[in-house]
Amino acid sequence: MANSLINVIDLEQQLQQQSPQKIIKYALTEFENIAISFSGAEDVVLIEMARNYRPDISVFCLDTGRLHPETYRYIEKVRKHYGIPIEVISPDGEAVRKLVTEKGLFSFYQDDHKECCGIRKIEPLRKKLAEVDAWITGQRKDQSPTRAAIPVIQNDTLFARTNSTLTKFNPLANWTSKEVWDYIRMCEIPYNELHDQGYISIGCEPCTRPVGPNQHEREGRWWWEEATKKECGLHVDNT
Ligand code: ADX
Ligand code: SF4
Repeated sequence: MANSLINVIDLEQQLQQQSPQKIIKYALTEFENIAISFSGAEDVVLIEMARNYRPDISVFCLDTGRLHPETYRYIEKVRKHYGIPIEVISPDGEAVRKLVTEKGLFSFYQDDHKECCGIRKIEPLRKKLAEVDAWITGQRKDQSPTRAAIPVIQNDTLFARTNSTLTKFNPLANWTSKEVWDYIRMCEIPYNELHDQGYISIGCEPCTRPVGPNQHEREGRWWWEEATKKECGLHVDNT
């Protein structure tokens, strides 16, 4: 189907009740040029599910240059486990050089994380998404107040090329963290070793910390900022 013909509002109603596997199957059936955006955390379940329908599923990871060593090791583990290439995307070197020369390596603690995320995540993502017709993310409603209403399929107007459409799938939107982890254990999927050290939500090393009992997973991300601002820009269309 030509992606411009898709009525995402109707589809959202149809797919909303479907399992993540069915949503992924739909996405891969409808879109040839589609990729999974893999953060190096529990969103690995997307790869596990997708490879049943497309063994050579395209997967990319935004390497901000600030990920934990454990996450780099984990990305490599996933690559070998599934026998698939994972495109590891670096930010623009000149933009990073300018930022850290002018503001240092930890400017996000003083300013906020928008500028650094913009250079290390958003611009690389924008370039990557210009190559595809659709993308698949591991976002869930239970991850954050800013994600409470995410649909399973949406028109991504933020990253769409001019005069083109980009479709975004969030197949795990309605799954809870427990359902994701039950699936990881049931399928014996390798996971990021940071999860055994108290980390739930995992991003860049300087901006992620473990959470204690009864803390929400998002409290471990950009903990010096308000909960309502904890989007880095990859998913601002949620708010
Ligand atoms: S973030 O916007 O706050 O960093 P989060 O860590 O919750 O996002 O991850 C939600 C989804 O965004 C992931 O499942 C993945 O699809 C995408 N994502 C986040 N970080 C990355 C990354 N470094 N590389 C690729 N995709 C990512
Ligand atoms: Fe920079 Fe932190 Fe954003 Fe990573 S999460 S890109 S280190 S501000």
